[in-house]
Amino acid sequence: MKTLLVTGGAGFIGSCFVLQRIAAGDKVINLDKLTYSGNLMNLKDVESNPNYVFIHGDIGDEKLLRKVLPEYQPDAVVNFAAESHVDRSIVDPDSFVRTNVMGTSILLRCVKDWWNTLEAEKKSAFRFHHISTDEVFGTLSMTDPAFTEETKFAPNSPYSASKASSDHFVRAFHETYGLPTVITNCSNNYGPRQFPEKLIPLMIANALNDKPLPVYGEGLNVRDWLYVEDHCKAIDLIIHNGRVGEVYNVGGHNEKTNIEIVKIICKELGKPESLITHVADRKGHDMRYAIDPTKIHNELGWLPETKFEDGIKKTIKWYLENKEWWETIISGEYQNYYEKMYAHREEI
Ligand code: NAD
Ligand code: TYD
Repeated sequence: MKTLLVTGGAGFIGSCFVLQRIAAGDKVINLDKLTYSGNLMNLKDVESNPNYVFIHGDIGDEKLLRKVLPEYQPDAVVNFAAESHVDRSIVDPDSFVRTNVMGTSILLRCVKDWWNTLEAEKKSAFRFHHISTDEVFGTLSMTDPAFTEETKFAPNSPYSASKASSDHFVRAFHETYGLPTVITNCSNNYGPRQFPEKLIPLMIANALNDKPLPVYGEGLNVRDWLYVEDHCKAIDLIIHNGRVGEVYNVGGHNEKTNIEIVKIICKELGKPESLITHVADRKGHDMRYAIDPTKIHNELGWLPETKFEDGIKKTIKWYLENKEWWETIISGEYQNYYEKMYAHREEI
């Protein structure tokens, strides 16, 4: 059994990880600021579990971190906390710098200071696991080989630039102070509890409400989709068996164009493709992401378990069975977001 300090555990991927680790018998301290995408409903199944503790706070709050770390003595810190949506980063880059860059740097510094007080055995067993994205590598053409751990960083959006910066800080804390860090760069995740601003849940929610399905440009951009539970299993495997100071790419071997995804959703929900509306493209829209997960497969035996055909069915079933979850979201502040992002987006 491990004690894990998870940051951003009330979000999409973090909550999946928390649920998996509590089910496996670990103790989880979840520190989350509860921004628009953090939702305690995601964790209602574990809220009264004695192995689960929730702390409402910011990864940039030094005073809080200096209290929490010695109090709970985690075996690992798993950093999911981030501003995570590319479109929001285009209109408000600064908040991405604040959390993804400054927040990660403050978290690293507080963890490093506390880690230095530990006895040798606990010190070498400790891990700082940073969750990152394949978007730090920039974009691929249709014929380029997939991203490996050696691919040069070339972030194109304020989101990916802030994540690339946070990855560099994690690396620097390992090289400079010897903090036992590991970074994972993962492809696009999908599954239950994803905030409806992202492609798959947005299209499911709109289709269920018979609203237009806003595909950016021609919809030919490619993403490599991974079921969220498979991502979380990879993280756990790396915390236990990954090599310190390393980076691992995690991906689904599952490249699809956006238009393919939207058509699959229409078909699964029995909705007409006439709902699909091509709208003005995203600024600086990356054409293609693809991950080469050879390293994590060869070293740790990890492979994605969930086929896209099954994962998308499970995801749609979850949104159908949890209408209240997303209806509560889309009837609130999200309406202003949607208006701002989509109402003035020209149809093409
Ligand atoms: P999300 O937006 O659903 O969740 C982010 C969580 O972080 C929320 O609970 C939010 O309240 C919390 N948070 C934000 N700022 C915080 C702060 N300053 N202090 C503490 N908590 C804060 O995001 P997600 O999709 O679950 O992504 C989680 C991580 O995985 C991010 O680091 C993201 O970059 C990375 N990632 C995401 C994907 C994807 O497809 N969603 C793919 C690869 C990597
Ligand atoms: P998104 O889910 O925002 O993830 P990311 O940009 O991090 O890959 O978008 C996935 C793809 O779907 C991306 O190419 C942009 C596109 N997209 C649309 O076409 N329409 C939408 O309304 C959204 C949110 C995304």
